[in-house]
Amino acid sequence: MRIIATIAELRRALRGRTVACVPTMGNLHEGHLGLMRVAQRHGDCTVATIFVNRLQFAPHEDFDTYPRTFAADCAQLERAGVDVVFAPDEREMYPVAQGYKVAPPPELGDILEGEFRRGFFNGVCTVVLKLFNVVQPQAAVFGKKDYQQLRVIQGMVAQLALPIAIVPGETARTDDGLALSSRNSYLSPAERAQAPRLHRTLAATAQSIAAGARDYGRLEQDAIDALRRSAWAPDYVAVRRQADLQPPAPGDRDLVVLAAARLGGTRLIDNIEVSA
Ligand code: PAF
Repeated sequence: MRIIATIAELRRALRGRTVACVPTMGNLHEGHLGLMRVAQRHGDCTVATIFVNRLQFAPHEDFDTYPRTFAADCAQLERAGVDVVFAPDEREMYPVAQGYKVAPPPELGDILEGEFRRGFFNGVCTVVLKLFNVVQPQAAVFGKKDYQQLRVIQGMVAQLALPIAIVPGETARTDDGLALSSRNSYLSPAERAQAPRLHRTLAATAQSIAAGARDYGRLEQDAIDALRRSAWAPDYVAVRRQADLQPPAPGDRDLVVLAAARLGGTRLIDNIEVSA
């Protein structure tokens, strides 16, 4: 496995290869490794990128404390059979202040996560487009755990006519249902015991929908109330269409229940797809 820090060297290394890439911010866990396995089916060279992207963090968020575990990440990637790790530093990615930015349309970028993390998807789109230009993959894998991010990237690739297949990867969970996330490491033991409740709450909402419930506003409020009773501070619970994350119209069948909620100082997100 090659570890490459510069754009020039990466371009030389990837010339003539059919690349599948998995963009990450490091602090890798089994969920990321699952995405690497998906990528390995979509190219003859798998590239993992590791870059903690300042542009997608608001000033009050955890950019400085975001867990950076580069050596352990590389060991895991090597065991997983990844071919190349691209790990630029900030000067390589942003040698001058990044004045050119990519913004998703507000109806997708400013809702849900975008409402509570203003500018988040502008930062994500800008770095992902830049990584795509650098890596020039034919396929890139994004986890469904970050469901809205997946839809935003799919929209960007479609509207900007990028020749890249965006491949969704399933969410990896622990046995008690908690979605794997780098931010799970922030949880205290008591919070870790409480954390699967987010998934259980969404699963109950999804079950109600599958069983025929259609008052989505009521279901969202019930889920928010249930989380609040268990000491969570929810930002949102939302029943949306899978395709565009807009509120369902009568007759829409392919739905997703999404949530973001704080447990102590840790903000977790999760979602479940459901057929109405
Ligand atoms: O999902 C992530 O880890 C990040 O948002 C991404 C896609 C690597 C962009 O920085």
